[in-house]
Amino acid sequence: MGRDEIVVGLDIGTKKVCTVIGELGESDEMEIIGVGTVPSVGVKKGIIVDLEQAIQAVKRSIEKSERMAGTRVNSAFVSIAGSHITSVNSKGVIAISGENPGISEEDIERVMEAAKAGIVSPDRELIHTLSREFVIDGQSGITDPLGMSGARLECKVHIITGSNTAVQNLIRCMEGVGVDIEEIVFGALASSNVVLSDAEKELGALLMDIGAGTTELAIFVEGVLVYSAVLPLGGNHITNDLAIGLKTSLNEAEKIKINYGSAIDNGVSSEGVVDISSLNGEEKYSVPKKYLVEIIEPRVSEICNLVRNEIKRSGYAEMLSAGVTITGGTSLLPGLIEVAEKSFGLPCRLGKPHYEGELAEMVNNPAYSTALGLLSYAEKKLAEGQPHKRASSKLKIKNVFSGIKEASQGVIDWLKDFF
Ligand SMILES: Nc1ncnc2c1ncn2[C@@H]1O[C@H](COP(=O)(O)OP(=O)(O)OP(=O)(O)O)[C@@H](O)[C@H]1O
Ligand SMILES: [Mg+2]
Repeated sequence: MGRDEIVVGLDIGTKKVCTVIGELGESDEMEIIGVGTVPSVGVKKGIIVDLEQAIQAVKRSIEKSERMAGTRVNSAFVSIAGSHITSVNSKGVIAISGENPGISEEDIERVMEAAKAGIVSPDRELIHTLSREFVIDGQSGITDPLGMSGARLECKVHIITGSNTAVQNLIRCMEGVGVDIEEIVFGALASSNVVLSDAEKELGALLMDIGAGTTELAIFVEGVLVYSAVLPLGGNHITNDLAIGLKTSLNEAEKIKINYGSAIDNGVSSEGVVDISSLNGEEKYSVPKKYLVEIIEPRVSEICNLVRNEIKRSGYAEMLSAGVTITGGTSLLPGLIEVAEKSFGLPCRLGKPHYEGELAEMVNNPAYSTALGLLSYAEKKLAEGQPHKRASSKLKIKNVFSGIKEASQGVIDWLKDFF
């Protein structure tokens, strides 16, 4: 495991670009030493649509985090989302030579290659090949076959791919910024590291990250990722609906949504009126708060219904015993969890990072799940021995990273080894 190392998570979202710099100390604990969040430009529905604008936004975000951390960023784990992301489960089988003393690293690589064969078409880019389980001579449920003996090795994998264009534009963007990509990571897979517990992943859980332009989904069963998808819908659609319904600007609609928006009529807090500026900003008028619910609820229900269809399509609907964890900025909308529970018929809870350290107040927000999740993902990869491209310059060591506090099913637990 790397010591005194800097790891960087870069979440390029539709609403914001966020860079977090983590410092891995002697005791393998991580401290967040820099956060740089700036408004996103050149990104729509999770995809880069204007390269130059995106480069500038990412540069601003990285520079901001560098100033806070007092260190330079040379490489980063970068998130990817967008509805071009698709996933498929596949398996590969190989024969193990009788002369081998046991299954080797090469055998594992070979069987993973066999599982990938023919899956990725030329217009797609491979993002992840995640092993779900290994089967040796018919014996299933093996997580690490290294050194075991057997004649026939089978590997079941979950493969996530993205469109060539979207992935190449992300790579171009990082080239333009001048920061190396350590790895491109599916956003919801990153988030899952800080908002889902191992116990939930084992039981069967859906992670739903509702941002501004996308809703990312990841289903875990028996501890592994089995289904991933991205819907091109998010909080921006709610803001647009409000702007149209209230005949006001997008900026005003966004403010109204954040300050007074709700997806359910919750009695007292839905009473009264809200003052709204007209489209040209010259007039003010009042609308009942209940009217906001009438605009917001149908859009939230629509998003939840589309997610419900994805759950059905996944084939894992009956296996989500740990329910649904909802994160991303839009999860903060009052009433959203209740609408989701009704739509899915499953227990739903809010998911957010539980970092303990100086910057906790800033980062323990559902909008930071992906960025912090990238750090956690990076830490796991380093622990597994993945080579680190270029460590950052000039480091001091402080060991202040803490565990993640998890609140699920009404039980508060401290998960020391979460990061
Ligand atoms: N308190 C709140 N109530 C309602 N919506 C909120 C609140 N806070 C943030 N949002 C919404 O959350 C969205 C931003 O979330 P987030 O930062 O997770 O998006 P993103 O990661 O940039 O986008 P994406 O993941 O879709 O590419 C915006 O639509 C914003 O209006
Ligand atoms: Mg996001």
